[in-house]
Amino acid sequence: MQKILDLISEEIKKAFEAAGYDSELGRATLSNRPDLCEFQCNGAMAGAKKYHKAPLMIAQDVAEKLQESEALSEVSAVPPGFLNMKVKESFVRDYLRDMFGAEKFGFQTPESKKIIIDYGGPNVAKPLHVGHLRSGIIGESIKRICRYAGHDVIGDIHLGDWGLQMGLIITELQKRQPELVYFDDSFEGEYPSEAPFTISELEEIYPTASAKSKEDEAYKADAMEATFKLQSGVRGYRALWDHIIAVSVADLKKNYANLNVEFDLWKGESDVHDMIPGMVEEMKKGGYAYESDGALVVDVKEETDTKEVPPCMILKSDGASLYNTTDLATIMDRMANYHPDRLIYLTDKRQDLYFEQVFRCARKTKLVNDDTELVHIGFGTMNGKDGKPFKTREGGVMRLENLIREINEEMIRKIRENAETKGYEIDMEQAEDTAKIVGLAAIKYGDLSNQASKDYIFDMDRFTSFEGDTGPYILYTIVRIKSILAKYEEQGGKLTDTVISEATGVSEKELMLELAKYNAMMETACEEIAPHKICAYIYDLANAFNHFYHETKILTEEDGKKKAGWIALLALTKDVLETCIDLLGFSAPERM
Ligand code: ARG
Repeated sequence: MQKILDLISEEIKKAFEAAGYDSELGRATLSNRPDLCEFQCNGAMAGAKKYHKAPLMIAQDVAEKLQESEALSEVSAVPPGFLNMKVKESFVRDYLRDMFGAEKFGFQTPESKKIIIDYGGPNVAKPLHVGHLRSGIIGESIKRICRYAGHDVIGDIHLGDWGLQMGLIITELQKRQPELVYFDDSFEGEYPSEAPFTISELEEIYPTASAKSKEDEAYKADAMEATFKLQSGVRGYRALWDHIIAVSVADLKKNYANLNVEFDLWKGESDVHDMIPGMVEEMKKGGYAYESDGALVVDVKEETDTKEVPPCMILKSDGASLYNTTDLATIMDRMANYHPDRLIYLTDKRQDLYFEQVFRCARKTKLVNDDTELVHIGFGTMNGKDGKPFKTREGGVMRLENLIREINEEMIRKIRENAETKGYEIDMEQAEDTAKIVGLAAIKYGDLSNQASKDYIFDMDRFTSFEGDTGPYILYTIVRIKSILAKYEEQGGKLTDTVISEATGVSEKELMLELAKYNAMMETACEEIAPHKICAYIYDLANAFNHFYHETKILTEEDGKKKAGWIALLALTKDVLETCIDLLGFSAPERM
């Protein structure tokens, strides 16, 4: 479906032409004076010079032509030469009826592309903390938005499963349990299928090992040796590594499932290890990689650089590969196996320069095609109220599970409080289930409503509030609509028999115009890969709905046709809101 603003522009363009002016002047915009008009056009101002005429005269000529318009009403030319107008109720009604019947509410999807989104990026055996939250939440929403826009999308978690952290864990295990069969070089049998540790043990082992390695040189050397042995394929080490991955991935799956985050691929850094030697050879042969102070590097600076972009290091002087070596090999793997048109990465924005180097290197060494798009979305930090990175009350790193628990507890409190003030009974079990759903919305909306690149303050009180620009407010609005629709059906009404009618009041028309903006908003959100645009839209839409709701006695309306029209409008509002929150990665409960 065409965007409503385009349809209105077409009307005005025709009028400009009919009045003898260039039709290109007839572009409509949303009014910045909603008290005066709904739409406006400033084309007469631009035309004044060209036609050596006062802008007001041009505007008057055009306004006259628009008097018989099917779409517009109250068209007026106002000094110094603006065109102010409203749209006819019948026009908006027809537009919304079409929208209701159309797939994706008439949103026209762009040309379909193959996209891989690299997000989440947790490191195996390290507990998930809030830093991984943003990558998971934003990445999941972007994946859903891209899919909605008709692209063929693969989400890859890209596990950090291959570096020194694995050697550290193995070393610590060896110190604690040297008798384990995995450390017996002469062992040729089959290794046990059960891991010699649980997830909680694993989560304790890593920080212990990491701390020891920082104080003890010999310990660190052992860990590096263990990493090397693992990477060279020593059987016992590989078997132990398999256990670490299995235990860790099972736990990650559980945690991400709680966040409504789902990956299509569970690949990791380890998956491309074998491709590195071949890739390095090619880079040398192509004349891209050269030795510098013993290390192997590729220059990636460009003449137009305003900041220094250091060379991309491919191998360290001891021949070991690095974070970017793995990323480059992963690009190679993705190009060969999935043929993506676009690769999108989500990490903390502190990796901006890093990705600039990797992307340039990938282009220069021809790992990607000329038209492969490489996109890094660097997000800001989630801060506490003190403006510093979010911590526990005791000042430690906040684990994701604990954060979710805290939010849920706060939500349960608010849900019970709300039930008390409204005077209805609520059973505990139901309150807990609802709290989970609403709590997730609180976290996700609180995060996604900010432009990704910005830092934001995690404010538990504000995020969980049922009022204001919050997830719970959006859900509350949806629940309110659901309840009205259910009551309409209880009264014997049939939702399928209802059809949107002309607005009969101001707040109703405002709600209708808000709905009509859907496809323009969605187009921008997709093009700019910007979930916060969806948040801003549903906040406006929820406000428009609640305004209408507070002014209108819907269920007691006696005029059946009028009532049915309102019900249809509510149903569309609910569908649009629910579609949007699904793209943000959360859902609404039945009651709250
Ligand atoms: N594991 C990395 C980290 O914790 C993030 C991985 C991001 N993705 C990538 N392809 N480099 O910092």
